[in-house]
Amino acid sequence: MDERSEKKIVLVVDDDKNILRLIQAYLEKDEYKIYNATDGNECFDILEEVMPDVVLLDLRIPGMDGLAVMERIKKFYPELPIVMMSAHGTIEAAVDSMKIGAYDFVTKPFESNRLKLSVRNAIIIRSLSQELQRLKNELYPTRDFGSIIGRTGKMQEIYKNLDKITASASVTVLIMGESGTGKELVAREIHNRTPSRAKKTFVAVNCAALPESLLESELFGHEKGAFTGATDRRVGKFEQANGGTIFLDEIGEMTPATQAKLIRVLQEREFSRIGGNDLIKVDVRLVSATNKNLEEAVKAGTFREDLYYRLSVFPIIMPTLRDRKEDLPLLAAHFMEVFKKREKKDVLQSISREALDVLFKYDWPGNVRELQNTLERAVVVASGSEIQLDDLPQMIKSMGVDKPHRTGESYVDLTGTMEEVIERVEERVMRKAFAEYDGNVSEVARRLNIGRATIYRKAEKYRLPIKD
Ligand SMILES: Nc1ncnc2c1ncn2[C@@H]1O[C@H](COP(=O)(O)OP(=O)(O)OP(=O)(O)O)[C@@H](O)[C@H]1O
Ligand SMILES: [Mg+2]
Repeated sequence: MDERSEKKIVLVVDDDKNILRLIQAYLEKDEYKIYNATDGNECFDILEEVMPDVVLLDLRIPGMDGLAVMERIKKFYPELPIVMMSAHGTIEAAVDSMKIGAYDFVTKPFESNRLKLSVRNAIIIRSLSQELQRLKNELYPTRDFGSIIGRTGKMQEIYKNLDKITASASVTVLIMGESGTGKELVAREIHNRTPSRAKKTFVAVNCAALPESLLESELFGHEKGAFTGATDRRVGKFEQANGGTIFLDEIGEMTPATQAKLIRVLQEREFSRIGGNDLIKVDVRLVSATNKNLEEAVKAGTFREDLYYRLSVFPIIMPTLRDRKEDLPLLAAHFMEVFKKREKKDVLQSISREALDVLFKYDWPGNVRELQNTLERAVVVASGSEIQLDDLPQMIKSMGVDKPHRTGESYVDLTGTMEEVIERVEERVMRKAFAEYDGNVSEVARRLNIGRATIYRKAEKYRLPIKD
């Protein structure tokens, strides 16, 4: 057993028995352990069981094009070196496969030495790159940050910034990013990881949810009788957050008057309740967030420049999910676990390759929140041990079909009747809004400026999950 585990593993994917025998004869003597697959499906079955050190892949195999198999291997096992083999050693085929990331290309029939050399080099390269990764990990530990999930370079950057932010007790942070990218999650992590504040309160205020007249008293409080309806003295959120963190969400929605009051508070570090004279001093860290481009709002004159500078002492820009798709399997698996526990579906073990493929192809306008909602639904409807393609919403599944080149979110398939095209657009708009507002009908209605009854109707039509 021991001796065998020392052996390097080669996976050969070729339906030609003669080639398999030949490779076996060439390589087994050299202490390689060989696994054979005769088509793409078998290849992936084996990959689920063993992790080879190198794959020898025929360009033409039954059922699936060799290049497609290779692309898929690269997607799921990016570090695994692949040597392409072909009896038809055209330059184009070689160039194509190298472009997608083949380590080498050998022409059949091959000489034993050429094959051995290619296999040996591929393995050396792999172990060097693993070593490099190990050293990198030592230097920059690849990790998640508390409840934040993601290991791509983009997230590592975020973690580095969070380390700096949490090393200071008071630096003011502005978190920017599309809807659903985790801005609030990051704000909470900042609070939880700031030693001097973690035990105090984290207070969140959604600046878009309250009318201007109420927001100010919400933030700063009021004295009894300060205005009609102020029947009691009320302590504002800034006071509640004393010692801890105040999170001003959707700060881009703040009206000029409230912006003016806030800037005064930030400058003077003290304020008074509405209708009061006492000056109140609080010790809070201010974290704000927006999915608007504040710089543009400043240019457009709708957001005060001085406030923008005060808020963005330490700016963080959250990456979109489509910019860190490598994190998708990790996030999807995480959400599957979370909802599997909640739904008590112990049998559920994994996400099928086809489903994962489609998740990769979709562009996630609603980012992590949309992925989370998708997995929640999938876990609820899944019946076996795997989440299947059919457990995903139609909209996402239709992404699995190769489409003409798409430019981000704005792509619309313009084929078919007017009604069909409009429906397509409508579904997209609805789906995005539902993802953005987590299926909250009132919010979606407000955002799209259409009635709630219409929203309910459309939600049923497009099978969107309502959470009201
Ligand atoms: N990196 C991540 N790891 C784990 N969960 C995440 C991550 N990013 C986001 N989420 C989850 O996705 C959901 C949306 O995140 P969050 O509310 O922080 O987004 P947001 O940027 O504030 O969105 P919005 O602008 O719409 O308010 C939450 O349930 C959050 O826990
Ligand atoms: Mg938010």
